[in-house]
Formats: sequence, structure tokens, C-alpha cells
Amino acid sequence: MALQDGNITVDQAYEAVDPKDFPAMMDVDRYGNRSTAFDKIISATHDHFWDPLDKKYIDFDQPFDMENEYLIDPAQNMELKTAVADKLDEKQKIQLVNMNVHWSLSSILHGEQGALALSASLCHILKDPGAQEYAANQTREEARHVTGFTNYIKARWGKPVQVGPALGDLLTELVLSPLVWKKLVGMQMLVEGLAMGAFATFYKFSRDPLMVKVMQLTMTDEAFHHKFGKIWADRTIPKLSADERNQIEDWAWEVFQVLLYNLGSPEQKKWMYARVGLDWEWVQSAFMEAMTDSKIREDMQESTNIFRVLIKTLLNAGIITERTSGNYAAFIDMKELYGEGDRMVGDDIAEEGIKFLRKLNGNNGTYMSLDSMTAAE
Ligand SMILES: [Fe+2]
Ligand SMILES: [Fe+2]
Repeated sequence: MALQDGNITVDQAYEAVDPKDFPAMMDVDRYGNRSTAFDKIISATHDHFWDPLDKKYIDFDQPFDMENEYLIDPAQNMELKTAVADKLDEKQKIQLVNMNVHWSLSSILHGEQGALALSASLCHILKDPGAQEYAANQTREEARHVTGFTNYIKARWGKPVQVGPALGDLLTELVLSPLVWKKLVGMQMLVEGLAMGAFATFYKFSRDPLMVKVMQLTMTDEAFHHKFGKIWADRTIPKLSADERNQIEDWAWEVFQVLLYNLGSPEQKKWMYARVGLDWEWVQSAFMEAMTDSKIREDMQESTNIFRVLIKTLLNAGIITERTSGNYAAFIDMKELYGEGDRMVGDDIAEEGIKFLRKLNGNNGTYMSLDSMTAAE
């Protein structure tokens, strides 16, 4: 029982079956039919191994003064660029900034759980043994991210906050979808692209050394997940019919908007404003007013802006064409992006982390750069 309907497959390595069709996996001809496309990223998994429960890699007992210190540079906080700042004293500002971090890291934790379940689900549908082995490795890495973020959140707040409805619905759709392209574009490119941008921003602006470490260790793995999405796109997008490509392009734009309008929207953070005595609808109007200021709009275009990484991922993959590039141009300078290479904002941070881990893991073999991972074999 092959999965035909809507499962756009042009490369054998991504051929899929119905999640309930286990007998297809025992087909004796399947085992030997392995793509080599993922061998390099599978082999590299030992280079970036880390264990969130081993103090040799990371120590979650490092304290932080949550009441008196900002977890991140407050200049990165969007609320404080609006009239919200005039209503709060210094302690409340610290509280608001740190609650925003709690919200973001909780969203990331739910995203990691989504990535874990999604990678595991890929093992049930992808037929290619190499693709399955890659997905199994990613599942294991996402599991350590769940542990890592759970431990960080536990150390700073006790437990995560409830997932926002927009992100919760999107993750559920991606995990349960039987379609490989939806899983890969939705998770590997959109959600992971957004996460890579968020990790890079936290890495750069966090004032908590423990958070910086969590970000770097996670990024050493995520850079490879991003490469897996890129390999799929390189092998798939150029061979699609115009109809199929348009279908993927339009769906990506829809998901982008869900992420953009919901993740940071005041409505999803009502509880947070209530704690510092603000009404979310008032905060929303303060945001609207601030957006008319060109300096604030400029701030949002900084190179570490999390949505910029996401747009670049889609553009490099060929999922943004002239059909939709005008939509994205409202948020960033598309011309500038067209002129940039493949290198992603988090890649340097990830490579530094991988070198640190190789030393710790006693690995002295030849180092393969991230750039070589997707090179044609
Ligand atoms: Fe992850
Ligand atoms: Fe990931």
C-alpha cells in the first residue's frame, strides 16, 4: 500500500508508505536499497554528542538572580520599545523580560517535543533504510533537547508554560500528517529555521552563561537537522511540476504567517501582562503605535532577526519564488538575501560547539565541516 495521494515524491530516498503499513518494511528487497545521501550526517552524529545529564557537558546547578537580573539584554525586548516601558518600574521590567524568555523557551521546548515525535514518525513512513537511520538519530538528538530545555526551565522557573494555540495546532498537524513534504518543509525548514534564528539570538544576547551553553549545544545538533531539510529540497524542488511547487510554496507562506502573527502576539501572552498589571489589548495598541516608528521597524531587520533565518532557509531551498517573494519583502530586504550565500546565521556558533564537543568526546579524526555535509557525493 503505497502512499500516493498528495505525497509529492520525486527522489526515491523519500519514498513513503502509510504509517500503518509495517509489512512494507519487511520487504526483502527494501533493506539493501539504501540511499547514500545521508551517510555523512549520520557518521557525524558522534562528533556532536552531548549528554544534558552529565556535568562534563553542562551543569544545570549554575544559579541566576531572576529577580534582579535580566536573562537577556533588555534592548532585545520588543515590549520595552513601546509605551509599555513607561508603565513599569525597573523590577517589573526585569520580570517582564524574564517572563518573555520563559514563554519563548517553553515554546521551544514544545517545538523540540514536536521535532522528537515528528522524526520518530518519519521512521514509520520513510522506506529508505538510510533515511530511516538519519531520522532515528535525529529522534535521539531531539530527545536530548527536550531533556536540556526541560532542565533549564526547571532550574529557572520550575516548569514550562502552556503551549500557545497557534503553535500547538501547527505542531500537531505536522506530527500527524502522513505527508513527507509537509513534515520536512514544516518542521525541518520552517520550525527548525525559526528555532535556529531564536537559538542564535539567545546565544548572542543572553546574560545567563547556562542559557548560552544550552543554546550552543543544541545548535550543534540543529545545524545537521537543517542540512537534512536542505538535502531534501536540493533533490526535490527542482524536479517538481509547477503545480506541486506552487502547492508547497503557498503552504509555506501560510505557515509562515501563523508563526509570525501568533508566536509573539500580545493575545498569546495575556497571562504575562496581567502579572505586571497590564491589559493585553492595551499592550497590543502600544505595539501598533510603535510600529509606525521606522527605527523600530529597522531593529526588526537585524541579521539575527529570527524570521530572517527562516525566510533565507525557504529562499535557498527554492520554496520562495517571485510568486511569493513580495509577501516576505514586507518583513525583510529580499534583495540582500538573494545576494548572500548558503551559510546560515547559526552555522559558525554550531561549528565552534562541535569543535568543543569533539575535544570533550576525545575525537581526533578528520573534521568534516558543515558545508561539506550537503556536498554531492
Ligand atoms: Fe531540536
Ligand atoms: Fe531539530
